[in-house]
Amino acid sequence: MIIGVLNQKGGVGKTTLTINIAATLAKAGYRVLVVDADPQGSALAWSSAREREPLFPVVGMAKPTLHRDLPEVARDYDMVVIDGAPRVNDLGRAAILASDIVLIPVQPSPYDVWAAADTVSLIREAQQFKPGLKAAFVVNRKIANTAIGRDITDALEQIGDVPVLPQGLRQRVIYAESAGQGLSVIEVAPDGEAAREIAALVKAVVSNKERKAA
Ligand SMILES: Nc1ncnc2c1ncn2[C@@H]1O[C@H](COP(=O)(O)OP(=O)(O)O)[C@@H](O)[C@H]1O
Ligand SMILES: [Mg+2]
Repeated sequence: MIIGVLNQKGGVGKTTLTINIAATLAKAGYRVLVVDADPQGSALAWSSAREREPLFPVVGMAKPTLHRDLPEVARDYDMVVIDGAPRVNDLGRAAILASDIVLIPVQPSPYDVWAAADTVSLIREAQQFKPGLKAAFVVNRKIANTAIGRDITDALEQIGDVPVLPQGLRQRVIYAESAGQGLSVIEVAPDGEAAREIAALVKAVVSNKERKAA
């Protein structure tokens, strides 16, 4: 299964989601590959900062032929997570075409809602070539006890028929702190709230068919 994490906006949580989804899948026993399709190379930088044994390899493939090249590279893995590039261009298109499901992280801000429409258009375009392609919004950096999360969900649902997953992520300092050491939240605090919310998201995304019996 190939999970693309994409949004044409920077700073919304693409790399954070990619790393933490990948780590959770790896801990569950899947053979995981992370593809850094962002020319900024944040996922690659994360893996360079890491001193522990890798949970999964990270390869840089920021190229417009990603959708054609990936099947060969992905053959030995159960799960591939693509950290997509910001900006609407050939790289974004290739990453979407390479994916089985695209997760679109969005922050609870009207700017993010407006910007999400571009990503949704790219997905619509890709679905014409690849009708089975799925997509969903993931609300990231939700702030506890605020109504804006609900407002954002309503606004996102009006963009098109891309669903908003109920399993969003809260604003938590552990996401930035763990990344600085090349770690994931499941490693730093396996029983913590962040690890739990990522596990819930992974469970929602990975279909029963692909799920490990364990
Ligand atoms: N849920 C969260 N809580 C706290 N900080 C977060 C959260 N998600 C992302 N961040 C931080 O926000 C910044 C941008 O996130 P990042 O994943 O790099 O976004 P993108 O890859 O879309 O540019 C990073 O410093 C990251 O650590
Ligand atoms: Mg990034």
